[in-house]
Formats: sequence, structure tokens, C-alpha cells
Amino acid sequence: MTQTVKAGIIGATGYTGQELVRLLHHHPRVEIAWLTSETYAGKRLPDAFPLPYDYPLIPAADADLSGVDVVFLALPHGASMDSVNRAYDAGALVIDLSADFRLHSSEAYARWYGLKHTQTALLDHAAYGLPELHRREIASARLIANPGCYPTAAILALFPLIHSALLKPPVVIDAKSGVSGAGRKLSPATHFVEANENLVPYRVGYRHRHVAEIEQELGLKGPEEVLFIPHLVPVNRGILETTVVRIKKHYTAGQLHELYLRCYDREPFVNILPPGSMATLAHSVGTNLCTIGMTGAEDDDSPADTFVVTVSIDNLLKGASGQAVQNMNIALGLPEAMGLGVTVP
Ligand SMILES: NC(=O)c1ccc[n+]([C@@H]2O[C@H](COP(=O)([O-])OP(=O)(O)OC[C@H]3O[C@@H](n4cnc5c(N)ncnc54)[C@H](OP(=O)(O)O)[C@@H]3O)[C@@H](O)[C@H]2O)c1
Repeated sequence: MTQTVKAGIIGATGYTGQELVRLLHHHPRVEIAWLTSETYAGKRLPDAFPLPYDYPLIPAADADLSGVDVVFLALPHGASMDSVNRAYDAGALVIDLSADFRLHSSEAYARWYGLKHTQTALLDHAAYGLPELHRREIASARLIANPGCYPTAAILALFPLIHSALLKPPVVIDAKSGVSGAGRKLSPATHFVEANENLVPYRVGYRHRHVAEIEQELGLKGPEEVLFIPHLVPVNRGILETTVVRIKKHYTAGQLHELYLRCYDREPFVNILPPGSMATLAHSVGTNLCTIGMTGAEDDDSPADTFVVTVSIDNLLKGASGQAVQNMNIALGLPEAMGLGVTVP
């Protein structure tokens, strides 16, 4: 594809929408055709965010869905599925950042999200947009369900052990997220006074909705196999997850490291740290990278069956809008890393 790609964003005034505008504005092959907002319709983007990109904001009902090559939806789950259907029918490539098309089964969606899925016929057409696991499917998809932020990190951290049939469940994933992970809408939990100087576990165990994606993609089942302990931390962006893993063989940290390197050999956005180095937020925030580190329980030289694996991503980039642009590049046959070199403040 050599011509300019015309893109529209539905829900451009949220945190992931803002990040999409930033990435697409600087993408060498993309022209932003329209941005929608209900709250700020009739105003311009700088009225909603202190951004130097002067685009008008229009209501979603006025968006010319058939006049663009790709539509990104950055809406809350439940609010997205009907708009996805309209964009799909109009013929555009559709990339949905919400959870509405991530789970293959409408029963699982109803169970975890407490909502009836209204577009079940489209579920079969949706590719789960994690390129490291589903690149071929994404390349031929017309509808891409962009993964959740926590699951992106958890799945990439554990996939090499699942792929090589080494993992011994259960896994207990300790996860920490910056406050932008909860979106722009204020709630008591994300109020500055409640979140700042605090560290809050929430929906621990087998309760957080993102468990469903982790199970689906890793083939784990139930609280006997996966427990997830999310925490809210007072930083703007970034996710760090730490998992103690038990494996079926005895490996040195170097051997485990080799396994991860082989698994992610050609991946432009997976950064495997040397054995003994732990991923931190600073490794990934402001980039589209997923950084993974591992160490033995006692040392890195003796063969062992217990390891600590750490993983970090930027929730708004590899966890959302960066991955969405990566998926767009794959689906449109553009170089996968195009437009993703930006570092945000
Ligand atoms: N934040 C993250 O780190 C992250 C990561 C991965 C995935 N996601 C997913 O991406 C989607 C967008 O997340 P976000 O963090 O950008 O959310 P957000 O900051 O809350 O923004 C959502 C935007 O959607 C618009 N909107 C339209 N219909 C709405 C409705 N019925 N209720 C509320 N808002 C509505 C709102 O803009 P107007 O009022 O201007 O129209 C709002 O600004 C969500 O589904 C989220 O789960 C978020």
C-alpha cells in the first residue's frame, strides 16, 4: 500500500484517544480525517487536552465511516460494540481498543462484563490483536480487538513457558498500574487525594476482568491455575507485573533467558533483559516496548525450577494505542514499527 492512509478516531478525548492522535499525527503514512467526541463536539482538540494538534471534534453520528481506511474506537466497553458494527459495515479496517471483541465467547463476555453482547456475529471475525501471538491473523483481519493493558504484559511474560510446555500452574501475577489505566473519568479511587501517596490492591484473586483474556490466550483455567493481584500506584502511566513461576525442568537463569530470546527472536517490541536484571517501569514507559526480566529464586547459575519473571509496559502505548498502531501497520501491510519511535514526556 503506497497511498496515504485516512484514519478516524471515535472517542478521541480519552487517554488512549489522546495517545492515538499523537501517534497518528506523526505517522508518516497516516492522515487524520476526523476525531469524534460527544462532550466536546463543536470544539477543537486543544479545548479538551493541552495538545498542539488543532483538529476539530465532531459527534460520532457525523463521522464519515466510509471515507476512511481505518477506524479506531477508544470508547468504554459496552459503548463500543454497536459503533464497531457500523464501521465494519462501512468497509473500514476496525481497531477496537475496548474489551468488546477480545473474548471469543459471548458467554464469557456476559460473565466477566455483566453485559449482553449485541454483535455476536462479529465475534468470529475479530482477531485478538497481540502481534507476538497472532500476527498472521491480524494481517488478514478487518476487525482487530486490541488487547487489555494488564493482559498484554502478563501474556507476553508467560507465553514462552506455555509455548514450550514448561509452565507448572498455578501462576500468581502481582500487577501494578499507573492511574491513567483507569481512564480519564474521575472516580473516588482515582481521585488525587485517594491515589497519591497510596498503593491500593483491588479486585484481587479471580475477580478482575482481565483474567478472562489471560486465561483465553494462555490456555489456563480457573482460580486453580491463575490468580491476579492488581494494584493502583500513584504514577501517571506504566504497568509492572511480577510472577513467581515454577517450571517442569531444572534450568539456570541463562537457559531460561535463552528460551525467551528464541521465542521473541524477531519481535521489534519485546526487550529481554540479561539474566538477573529486573524490568522496571522506566524500561518501557514512553515507548511501545514490553520489557521482560528473569532471575532464579536464589542465584542465576544453579539449575532450579523456580524463577521470578518481571514485565513492564506503558499501558497507553504497548498496552493500548501503540499496539493499536502496530496492528494497523500489520493489517495494512506497512512496516510494523512505522510511526512508533516516539517517546512521550
Ligand atoms: N487507559 C488505558 O490504559 C487503557 C489500556 C488498554 C485499553 N483501554 C481501553 O480503551 C478504551 C478507552 O480507554 P480510555 O482510558 O481512553 O478511556 P477514557 O479516558 O475514559 O476515555 C473514553 C472516552 O470515550 C468517550 N465516550 C463515548 N461514549 C462514552 C460513554 N458511553 N461513556 C463514557 N465515555 C464515552 C468519552 O469522550 P467524549 O465524552 O468526549 O465522547 C471519553 O473521553 C476503554 O475501553 C479501555 O478499557 C484503556
